[in-house]
Amino acid sequence: MDIIQAIEKRISCRAFTEKSLDQGQFDALVQEIERINAESGLHFQLYGPRADGTAINMSAKMFANNPPCYAALVARKDPLEEEKLGYYGERLVLLAEMLGLSTCWVASTYDQATTRVELGDGEALHDVVPIGFAPEKIPLKQRTIRASIRGRSKKLEDLYRGPVPLAGAPEWVQACVDAVWKGPSAINEQPVVFVQDDVDGPVRAELVRVKTGMEYTDLGIAKYHFEVAAHECGVPGSWQWGAGAAFQ
Ligand SMILES: Cc1cc2nc3c(=O)[nH]c(=O)nc-3n(C[C@H](O)[C@H](O)[C@H](O)COP(=O)(O)O)c2cc1C
Repeated sequence: MDIIQAIEKRISCRAFTEKSLDQGQFDALVQEIERINAESGLHFQLYGPRADGTAINMSAKMFANNPPCYAALVARKDPLEEEKLGYYGERLVLLAEMLGLSTCWVASTYDQATTRVELGDGEALHDVVPIGFAPEKIPLKQRTIRASIRGRSKKLEDLYRGPVPLAGAPEWVQACVDAVWKGPSAINEQPVVFVQDDVDGPVRAELVRVKTGMEYTDLGIAKYHFEVAAHECGVPGSWQWGAGAAFQ
């Protein structure tokens, strides 16, 4: 599976089989976390199974069962750090997907009291990402949860503001916005809009509004999906950090 297929296939997975990751999958995630931490200054960690074979207790309201592995996404409390956490966290999520695994970003619906994590000075655990194998058939309750949250998705056109509607924007921009639309965001708010002042001008990523603070993480996730799709279209470039910053 390549990374574009991973974007197409990824969903928030809220049910897992009892199977553990194989050593190759676990090691690939550990190595990616080492690269991410070295590159970004973030403090991501990976935890495997406890004695009962599961790694973390998820809230039964949302999850059918507990996964065999999770990533702890740790960063300082700061909008730019949280944006980076989104960007690099999604890089990890899409790698997991390419390894044949399923994931979910989780900010709140898990048991923090029994969660393993190392925190440095000023750091916080912002999200966990349960990682494991999706069952062949996702239970009805979890399918219903996802359909009801995802059913409130914005229209693709609402994620773009330019001199023309999205359908008239350069093809590569349309592909990038489509890749962002398919991505995860906290309570599916999709708070990022891509702005172009003219059709050949730079694209900026803006936040429609900031209500919970999780929008900064969503901004990083959206920027990562946009960048992956741009490179796939043969458009090189990278983002500057911050709301309102441009893809250059
Ligand atoms: C930063 C962040 C935090 C999230 N927190 C939770 C959570 O606590 N519980 C949960 O069930 N889903 C959580 N989600 C998953 C979103 O609900 C999900 O991404 C969104 O509904 C879109 O659905 P999809 O990922 O299946 O496409 C979170 C997603 C993000 C990006």
